[in-house]
Amino acid sequence: MSPYPLLRRLSHEHYTPGPQLAEALGVSRASVSLALKSASELGVQVLVQKSRGYRLAQPLSWLDETRVAQALGEHARYFDLHCFDEIDSTNSALLARIADGAPSGLCYAAERQTRGRGRRGRSWQGELGDSLMFSLLWRFNLGVADLSGLSLVVGLAVARALHGLGLKDAALKWPNDIIAPGGKLGGILIELAGDALGPSAVVIGIGLNVRLSDAQRAALDQPAESLAALGYVGERNALLAAILAELAELLPRFEQQGFTAFIADWQACHALQNRPARLLLPNGTSVDGLVRGVAANGALQLEGPDGVQEWHSGEVSLRARP
Ligand code: BTN
Repeated sequence: MSPYPLLRRLSHEHYTPGPQLAEALGVSRASVSLALKSASELGVQVLVQKSRGYRLAQPLSWLDETRVAQALGEHARYFDLHCFDEIDSTNSALLARIADGAPSGLCYAAERQTRGRGRRGRSWQGELGDSLMFSLLWRFNLGVADLSGLSLVVGLAVARALHGLGLKDAALKWPNDIIAPGGKLGGILIELAGDALGPSAVVIGIGLNVRLSDAQRAALDQPAESLAALGYVGERNALLAAILAELAELLPRFEQQGFTAFIADWQACHALQNRPARLLLPNGTSVDGLVRGVAANGALQLEGPDGVQEWHSGEVSLRARP
């Protein structure tokens, strides 16, 4: 059996007897013991005492549709949220729903992804309870040709949500990384379907490191930081609601006004604004310059010896230069 229903019944404060768990879920005690053994593969430590039962070594809080809706208040009407224990990728699952007419605002969040995807074909890992991973389906009357600044607007929505929660050190790195001085806090993967002229549907996937153990940090291929290290002590439901509320404000405004309306706000959140930076190009070469800002189509404006050049996000990647 799946360990999730069992884990949801365990507390980190007291032991729950095995027979009680078995009875509640209508399974044998042997199944309970077997399923909870597999919990360690999910990164969850379950303490066992023969006479007392099972207890979580660390508190584990779960994503919960009702709590998110409560925290969203009036913005809840924009969203239809479904929380999954385990899914291959919330982005892939929502992409599969576009063709069958799934509505704008459908949102999938997952405790764990077995095939979570990052940008540029990378994988995206998140530990149970320590990571916020969700995707939002949004439909625009715009064509895909008019969506070039969208990924930056989504980054801005996340940055605004984090600032609103008191995490003032959260910033953006073009095009849409969420960063802190210590490393990457999270990322955004946007996937599009539709015609150049419209309408279009997008899947906006967001992954954030809420907490990071030393082992998780070491396993990543670039410096990473967590919201907890910036002082976040809240739960993921409040975080999800804060980001969705910002998206509910910014996505309709983007549809009406385009990215131009967001340029100043975006640049104010850009960690590298007016700073020296290096762009790594797909052919292995690089370009150095000063970051001057972003254009109305979301392109990066980098001032080098030959003046200001615009770069599109496709395959280039931006680094700070000392
Ligand atoms: C990046 O590489 O910076 C983007 C990471 C995006 C990860 C999120 S987690 C939720 C959603 N589902 C996925 O498979 N990927 C995105």
